[in-house]
Order: sequence, then structure tokens, then C-alpha cells
Amino acid sequence: MSLDLERLIRPNILNLVPYRCARDEYKKGILLDSNENSFGSVLSVEQEDGQELHRYPFAYAELKKKIAKFRGIRVEQIFTGVGSDEAIDSTIRIFCSPGKESIIVTPPTFSVYKVRGDINDAKVISVPLTPDYQLNMDKLKKAITPEVKVIFICSPGNPTGVRIPREDIIELLESDYKGMVALDEAYVDFSTSPSDCDLVDKYPNLVVLQTMSKSFGLAGIRLGWAIAHPSVIDVFNKVKTPYNLSTMTAKMGMDALELVDEMHQRVKQVQQERDKLMESMRQTPEVKNVRSSEANFFLAEIEHAHEVYRMMADKGVVVQYKGKEPHCKDCLRVTVGTPEENKVLLETLKDVCKLVAEQHADDATENKTKKRKTDQ
Ligand SMILES: Cc1ncc(COP(=O)(O)O)c(C=O)c1O
Repeated sequence: MSLDLERLIRPNILNLVPYRCARDEYKKGILLDSNENSFGSVLSVEQEDGQELHRYPFAYAELKKKIAKFRGIRVEQIFTGVGSDEAIDSTIRIFCSPGKESIIVTPPTFSVYKVRGDINDAKVISVPLTPDYQLNMDKLKKAITPEVKVIFICSPGNPTGVRIPREDIIELLESDYKGMVALDEAYVDFSTSPSDCDLVDKYPNLVVLQTMSKSFGLAGIRLGWAIAHPSVIDVFNKVKTPYNLSTMTAKMGMDALELVDEMHQRVKQVQQERDKLMESMRQTPEVKNVRSSEANFFLAEIEHAHEVYRMMADKGVVVQYKGKEPHCKDCLRVTVGTPEENKVLLETLKDVCKLVAEQHADDATENKTKKRKTDQ
């Protein structure tokens, strides 16, 4: 399958001359080319791999080698960014001409796609998922116009926790749609089926977004990546700020990629706790429904969810209210905590649900009394 990059990419980005400097070619010697502080950093943190903090970072190649090994892909297929948030923004910035072109989002979904779309002045078209949180393929295909340049798909979905089948992604990639598909796999390591990132070998209009923030537990270092056809990755690299990842981020990312077994162990712990917590919530009478999930969170449908959410937060247990999203009426999104945190969550939830139910019962009695009085 060929990729008509010239037609897809914004003309100014296609013609962009990227920032280049002497360090791109010469990395050793007496380095007096980048206006660094030759007397060293005020912090005396020496890096054993020769990366010193007074130097601009240069370890991205090594980092990419480790990511490539981890995901079974090639170095040229990887762009590393400040969280996958950077890759989300770059995807829109590269392909959508401001004020002219569009992205499609499939709510309920990760709200950052719309926010980045709005910031980049892309029109944001919503094609909601079906009630069982799958792509509404007919509506999606009908919404596609030549102006649509990126379709964001989240799998497992946030907040749904539901995986989009590989066949559906392939169907979209093989349809008449000529723009990019951005497949966000932030939570893929929690899922029972593997990443679909191998599809980039066959489909040059696919960008897969992944992150170290979730399964590796490294949200604080801000490291994510995009996996795509090398010619697409070249454009991501052209557009990024020159040294987007800090030396510490690159170093910690490389260290963590040596600990993949540890990551899998933690994922297993999260999955076990998730299943236990979901079961306990299902047995809580006020919880109307708990949706199954392949992520480290799940949706729980609870009567008067907004009040419950507020009251729980006031008591120190913070979850997310998702009741305004399509097919999420009265839903709270609960991130799986440690066993101790989950115990407090369950106790607080039960107390709060009882309080809210009592309040509503009192209100109903008061209303009845008022009505009786006005009727008399
Ligand atoms: C679906 C999804 N994609 C991307 C991100 C952003 O991840 P990062 O921390 O890598 O920027 C999140 C964070 O919550 C997310 O839920």
C-alpha cells in the first residue's frame, strides 16, 4: 500500500527546513558549538553513560533501539516524545491545515484529542462509539470527507476499557479513507491481546501511539512514542522541538526497558486487583453496572453518580465523573488502586451511596408534603 504523503501533509510542513546544528554530525571532541556551560552543571550528577547534564541530550538513538526491541519493530519506525501527548499533538499539527481540515474522534474517548484539535484549529467531528463501545463503522465511513486527515481510535479505550478488534482497524485502513488513522494504545499492556503496532508494516497511513506512563508506571518522566512508516516518522522528527526529551527521561526510559519482566508482573497485579475490585463493586447494591475492562480502570454505573463523585472527593477519594459522555450515563471511571486504596474506595463508596440515597428519600418526602399542602 503506498502513501501519498505529499497530498496528506500540510504544505508548509512538507516544505519545512528543520533545525540542524553541528552536533547532529559531530558528537565528540572539544564541544564548543552549542553554547552549553563549559564549566559544568550546578548539579553534580554524573551519568555513567557519558551523558552529562550540562550537555544537550543525545541518547535518543539508544532509547529507540530498546523500544524497537521491546515492540518488535524497527528504529526508523519510532518517534519519541514528551508523553504520547506530544505525538497526539504532532499528528494533528502535521496533517491538518488550521481552519481547513478535520479530525474525527469517537466519544466516549480521551478528551485530549479534541483539545489538541481545538488548539490546532482543526475541525473536530464526533462519531460516537456504539453502546457496547465499538466503532460505528457505517457512521464513521459516512463522516469521512476529503478534509478529514486523522481519525483517532483509542484501544483499549479511555474511559471505556474496551479493545477495538484488529479487523475493524484493518477495515478502516483498507477503506476508501485516504487520511491517517491514529491508534492510541496507551493501555495496551493491560489487555489480553497484543499490540496492533505490527500493522504499520503494511499500512503506511497508520500511527500507533504508546506510552511509558501506564504499564511501566512512569507518568512522571513523560515518555511516549509514535510508531509509523519511516517516511511519516521523518516528518514527526522534523516538526519536534530540537531536544524534546531530557537526558534524565531518556536514561530512565532506557533503564525501564531493561525491566520488561517487572512491568509484566506489575500489570498482572493490576489486572488481579482490577478483577477483585470490579467483583466487589458488582456486589454493592447501589452500583447498577460495572463494565468489563482491559485497562487499569473501569466504568461503574451508579445512581446519582455526580453527587457520589463530589461527596467521595470531599472525603478524599477521587475518581472521574464521566456521566456527560455518550453511553456513559451515571458512570464513574475508577482507576485501580493498591489493595489498601481499593478497600478505602469501597468503604467510602458504600457510605456515600447510602448518604446520597437518604438525601434523595428525604427530598422526595419533603416534596410530597409540600405538594399535599399546596393541594389542600
Ligand atoms: C488514551 C490515552 N492516551 C494518551 C495519554 C497520555 O499519555 P502520556 O502520559 O504518555 O502523555 C493518556 C493519559 O491518560 C490516555 O489515557
